[in-house]
Amino acid sequence: MINSKAEILQILNSTPKEAESYFKKAAEIRNNTIGNGVYLRGLIEISNICRKDCLYCGIRKSNSFNQTFTLTDEEILYSARWAYEHNLGSVVLQGGERCDKEYTLRIEKLIKEIKQLSRGNLGITLSLGEQEYDTYLRWFESGAHRYLLRIESSNEELYKKIHPKNSLHAFKTRLNCLESLQKIGYQTGSGVMIELPFQTKEDLANDLLFLKSINIDMVGMGPYLEHEHTPLFEYRDLIPSLQERLELGLRMVAALRLLIPDINIAATTALQAIDPFGREKAVATGANVMMPNIGPAFGRKNYNLYQNKPYSDEGAKEVLRKLQKSVEQHGGEIKLDKWGDSRHYFSRTNK
Ligand code: 5AD
Repeated sequence: MINSKAEILQILNSTPKEAESYFKKAAEIRNNTIGNGVYLRGLIEISNICRKDCLYCGIRKSNSFNQTFTLTDEEILYSARWAYEHNLGSVVLQGGERCDKEYTLRIEKLIKEIKQLSRGNLGITLSLGEQEYDTYLRWFESGAHRYLLRIESSNEELYKKIHPKNSLHAFKTRLNCLESLQKIGYQTGSGVMIELPFQTKEDLANDLLFLKSINIDMVGMGPYLEHEHTPLFEYRDLIPSLQERLELGLRMVAALRLLIPDINIAATTALQAIDPFGREKAVATGANVMMPNIGPAFGRKNYNLYQNKPYSDEGAKEVLRKLQKSVEQHGGEIKLDKWGDSRHYFSRTNK
């Protein structure tokens, strides 16, 4: 295990050879703490309509090139049923941020319907942005039990640089939301983007310490990938090559696993966008969660948070079969039919 910023920085700055040994240690500590099981969440991207205008994100409100889509209830429930029938154990509903009553009620209804169609068996994670306390509560009471809300960067100055300067994009609100989620009883996930323009290694080390300090249960982190129809694209020359971003991403996963051994860490899609086996490599460095996309193909094509987001026309069944094999080759073992809850949550809440 590690504890200090200096130790994290040592890992982030390690040579490829040194990194190999950190990766091994991180996978080992995962195996000894929570096992080598890799848990699946079927990702359903429900809509790319967003009220926010984050300067890095391809589905930001002002991106007029964004071809908007919203899945129908039937499409969402079909995907959830597919996840249930194929033993994925749980689903994630992710989407651009919307807070109107019609929308929050619709989500509430969908959560209940997913619970019903799976006889209570499918776990439900939400990734639907910043919401009122009451909305979070209603969704929790309807059956969602995990929530993902990335802090994006825990450095408030950097956060301000990558978001519009207005009350809709306040750092403080993001912190309050994370606090509300924990208070309500969600297993709470957060995370950051890696290699943002203006970001330093020290920022990233602080990000990991921040995640520990707020007692987070789950983390998803991935390399920042520039998108040409966003304002941050202008600063693309400030960021290192894709390969370097991947390598730092893996070092971040290893450092986080060594810092907080009992949390869930996702092998994120952004790693896969750089390297077809980026996610598996993250499993080999300590990650234990994967979120294969199971929504309808047209949605997957248009949910472009960043460019070159991996998209496959292959049947989801085939994708799953391949994933089982490639994960095994990287030291993990896919566990079907399990929620794969964060061990950390249970020790944090004494459950
Ligand atoms: N590069 C990488 N990740 C991105 N996200 C949004 N835009 C980008 C980008 N350009 C991530 C954010 C958000 C998550 C859903 O996708 O971290 O929380």
